[in-house]
This record gives sequence, structure tokens and C-alpha cells, in this order.
Amino acid sequence: MREQELLKKAEEASQYAYAPYSHFQVGAAVLCVDGSIYTGCNVENASYGLCMCAERVAIGKAVSEGKRRIDMIAIAGREEGGAFRASCSPCGACRQVIAEFSDENTRVITGNSDGEWKEWSVREMLPAAFEMEESNESL
Ligand code: THU
Repeated sequence: MREQELLKKAEEASQYAYAPYSHFQVGAAVLCVDGSIYTGCNVENASYGLCMCAERVAIGKAVSEGKRRIDMIAIAGREEGGAFRASCSPCGACRQVIAEFSDENTRVITGNSDGEWKEWSVREMLPAAFEMEESNESL
């Protein structure tokens, strides 16, 4: 699975975004180490603090089907009716959730399927992530 293909799946997933408050539509696609793919979109709520990001929806779908190891996660976002941004960087909460199911090879990519994109390792995105173990050497 190439980066552009996974970004395309993230773009496609964003069509289901429920974003009547922010009008910002996000899609995420998680490629698991076994090759399976799970997608998600943001799901907002009139009680704003309950809004769910696309990344956490996609990861929740994967984990709830027994997939706990992420190879790559792609994120695409756009204003309603606009073009996909060159970057839709995950929020801090999502970085911590991505880290939970990642290893040193996991990549986070964001952008669009027109060729504008960038990538980070999870450690680059979230150095010194909180972990239950005392050391932070796994990432
Ligand atoms: N959002 C995501 O789904 N993922 C991100 O990486 C950034 C933000 C959502 C949350 C909210 O529904 C909307 O985008 C505006 O913040």
C-alpha cells in the first residue's frame, strides 16, 4: 500500500464526516500490519467536547476487530466544499492514541491524493509519550 493510496482512502472516508459545527471534514485510514485497512471520519456533537476525531474513530474500529498494530495512518482534511489541505496534522489527544498502537516503524502521513503530503514517525510526532512502563524506549 503506497502513501497516495492510503491518503485516497482517508479522503474517501471524509465524505461521511458529521461536522455541522466546524464544517471541517476529516477522514483517516489506518493500515494495520496484517494489511487490513480501517477508515473513520470525525463525528461531532452539539455538546462540543464530545466531538470525536477521525483518527480515533478509525483506530477504534481497528482495535474493536482485533487489530492492534498500526503500520501507517493517513489523515486528510478540508473545509466543507473546499480542497483537501496539504496537511491536517493530528491533535495531541490523537497522537497519544496513535502511539498506543504503534511501534518504531509506524508512520503518520497527512495531505492529499494530489501529491501534497508529509510524514512523521510516531516518536517525531509525540516525543516522550506517556506510557505505563517506566522507560519510554518502545517508541
Ligand atoms: N479533527 C479531526 O477529526 N482530526 C484532526 O486531526 C483534526 C481535527 C476534527 C475535530 C472536529 O470535528 C473538526 O476536525 C474541527 O476541529
